[in-house]
Amino acid sequence: MIISTHQPRKEIIGLALRAYGIDLGTRVLKIYKEKNGVVYDQKNILAINDNGEIIAVGDEAFDMYEKVPKSITVSFPIKNGVIADFSNMQALIQEIFRKHIKGGARGNKDFFIAVPTDITDVEKRAFLDLIESAKIHAKKVYIVEKPIAAAVGAGLDVKHPNGVMLVDMGADTTEITIMSLGGIVISKLIQIGGTKLDEDIMLYVKKTKNVIIGMKSAEECKTKLACANQGIEGKVSIKGRDLVVGLPTIVDVTGDMVYEAIREDLHAVMDAVKVILERTPPEISSDIIDNGVYLTGGCSRIRGIDQLMSKETELKARFYEQPEEAVITGLARIIEEPDLSELASSLIQTNYN
Ligand SMILES: Nc1ncnc2c1ncn2[C@@H]1O[C@H](COP(=O)(O)OP(=O)(O)OP(=O)(O)O)[C@@H](O)[C@H]1O
Ligand SMILES: [Mg+2]
Repeated sequence: MIISTHQPRKEIIGLALRAYGIDLGTRVLKIYKEKNGVVYDQKNILAINDNGEIIAVGDEAFDMYEKVPKSITVSFPIKNGVIADFSNMQALIQEIFRKHIKGGARGNKDFFIAVPTDITDVEKRAFLDLIESAKIHAKKVYIVEKPIAAAVGAGLDVKHPNGVMLVDMGADTTEITIMSLGGIVISKLIQIGGTKLDEDIMLYVKKTKNVIIGMKSAEECKTKLACANQGIEGKVSIKGRDLVVGLPTIVDVTGDMVYEAIREDLHAVMDAVKVILERTPPEISSDIIDNGVYLTGGCSRIRGIDQLMSKETELKARFYEQPEEAVITGLARIIEEPDLSELASSLIQTNYN
């Protein structure tokens, strides 16, 4: 069994050491270095050859995605918010600290990792094992619940008794969380995020136009044309492969097509938000009516998502200006500000279960 304890970091070690904060996003990996700021912010992906050697990491590897020969594998090691490919994730972290972070390969360091709340103990433990086994001189590893980090990053006073609702729509997942007094009251991780919307667009173009387009092209259509409550004007010309004749072709994807493709999944997210609201204790519900719902994560950039949320939940929807940065900004504050240190906990493996 794994238990987590709240121990202020500075008290344990007696002096301040450089610490790193890591947001292992499904799509993007961000690393914050104490007193230095964000020192790494690239796609969470690596390219390896047949011999298992790394040939590229981060944005360089992402440029190869969907274009590599059979002898090279390009993969995202995090899926649905958890470590899906442990050895590749370990290799990627090792490579980043060795090559991309100045001083990253030296000295003992504390690590603060943001992890989803609604995952199993085994999945949580994997984050700890990852850092401890990645040969990056981890002294102590702290876990911060992702929604707590996002809320702190968005400037909310999570230690206050006022209940807060946060919806983080990232790449593979949407995490819906109710928190109060620095803790999580309810949290639900659902497997709908930006990647699912990209797949919806690919499928829709295939069905209606008989053209296969790539994930990157679908993502381009989404970022340029997605709107949560109607099809917007405009179109994007995308290169794809005609399913009938099998040859390369160009297809126009319109705002209406994107809306039709993604509307069902966006409504599924809204339904999940409503279920959580129904399960929320009444005292906290009344706080949420006053405060509204906070939206973070890259998908909160979708136009009109605030209006859809307000229409479906009858609550005010609030944005964080840099929605993808909320988690890493929160980790940075938890590392730097002693009065927030209790929001991090260290995982301890016990011998009984
Ligand atoms: N302007 C935009 N419009 C629509 N979607 C966007 C926009 N900008 C980014 N996104 C989407 O946001 C998603 C990435 O969000 P984010 O960076 O929060 O994910 P992550 O932290 O890597 O993933 P997760 O938190 O799920 O593990 C991608 O699917 C991306 O396409
Ligand atoms: Mg994220």
